[in-house]
Amino acid sequence: MEKIIKVDLKEKSYNIVIKENILSSCSKYIKELKIGKKILIVTQDKVPSVWIQKVKQSLFEAGFKVFVLVLKSGEEQKDLSSLLKIVNFAIKNKFERSDSFCAVGGGVVSDLTGFAASIYYRGINFICIPTTLLGMVDAAIGGKTSINIKEGKNLLGTFYQPKIVIMDPRVLSTLSKREFLVGMGEVIKYALLEHTAKTKFPKSGFFKFLKTKKNQILKLNTKALFQIIDYSAFVKAQVVSKDEKESNLRAILNLGHTFAHGIEQAFDYKKYTHGEAVSIGMCLASKLSYRQNLISEKEVTSIISLISDYGLPTRLERPFNLNKIIKSMLLDKKNKDGKFRFILPVDKIGKVKIVSGIEIKEIKPLFLN
Ligand SMILES: NC(=O)c1ccc[n+]([C@@H]2O[C@H](COP(=O)([O-])OP(=O)(O)OC[C@H]3O[C@@H](n4cnc5c(N)ncnc54)[C@H](O)[C@@H]3O)[C@@H](O)[C@H]2O)c1
Repeated sequence: MEKIIKVDLKEKSYNIVIKENILSSCSKYIKELKIGKKILIVTQDKVPSVWIQKVKQSLFEAGFKVFVLVLKSGEEQKDLSSLLKIVNFAIKNKFERSDSFCAVGGGVVSDLTGFAASIYYRGINFICIPTTLLGMVDAAIGGKTSINIKEGKNLLGTFYQPKIVIMDPRVLSTLSKREFLVGMGEVIKYALLEHTAKTKFPKSGFFKFLKTKKNQILKLNTKALFQIIDYSAFVKAQVVSKDEKESNLRAILNLGHTFAHGIEQAFDYKKYTHGEAVSIGMCLASKLSYRQNLISEKEVTSIISLISDYGLPTRLERPFNLNKIIKSMLLDKKNKDGKFRFILPVDKIGKVKIVSGIEIKEIKPLFLN
């Protein structure tokens, strides 16, 4: 089965191609881009070499001159020194503007390589081959690139769209369970946006699908995986196509994220993965919505149950420093005058709304019960 999803951004439009075992034939799609002969694959040492070899071999057989730069794994590698490694490597090997950088890895590799591609010679072709679930359903789509600096995460970056995104669900077979669940946090988020994003999933909707197909998804059943990747990538592509630079609609993708960023930062990005923090954030957003009379208790219970069924956390483990979390949450640039702005699930599952002017005193009790 092959699925092509278009991200529609006029002259910056591109395709997301999803296909099982596509890595061995990825050059077929890359050749169509009519790009230069040199391709620099940027990856990380924990990305199994079997996946990198498949991409490399396919490109080599199609006549490309392929270079591979393997960085260490870890979020801390998404920094200025890795950026310089990529750029210096490209300069040393005489990469020209028509040549390409190709990320093969998770969100760290795609954010970093995309950023490097956006500034090398004022923009070189960028190809993205995500190998984590989070990479597939989120980081690889939409053109947000970045690196971290000591003052904060993702503080330097650009909007720079790839020329193509290639996804092979098979690569998820080597991912740890915890890393897989990082992506599931975002997949569940798409179920809570289904109606607002105007991306109706067939039959009874994506939320129900995630509920009924839980066992298959967690066992990495190929068909079920394909469906969740396909639908999630479709939602993100639709939203980004309508609002590339987050002027309005794209903000809905931040559901649960103001809480999540506060939690991640307050725990120094150690205790909770991003997906775990987003899961707790979505539960807190649902509880807040209930307190604002925007959603029924039954819907809140359903959301929390689904998150819990996937083995994701629904509340913070005690003890925690609530003031530190709130302080970190207040750094969110979308807040105004010390009051929060949240994306909240409202009405029936699948609908969200942006709610501003929420005070600190309304937030604190959510964490405590
Ligand atoms: N640009 C965006 O829109 C966007 C959106 C969400 C997240 N992000 C960024 O994404 C990053 C997180 O991405 P992530 O969760 O993919 O983490 P990651 O890139 O650190 O990957 C997680 C780990 O899995 C390893 N790995 C990758 N593919 C593998 C595979 N197939 N098998 C086994 N191991 C594999 C990696 O080497 C790493 O050790 C963060 O930096 C975040 O800021 C960006």
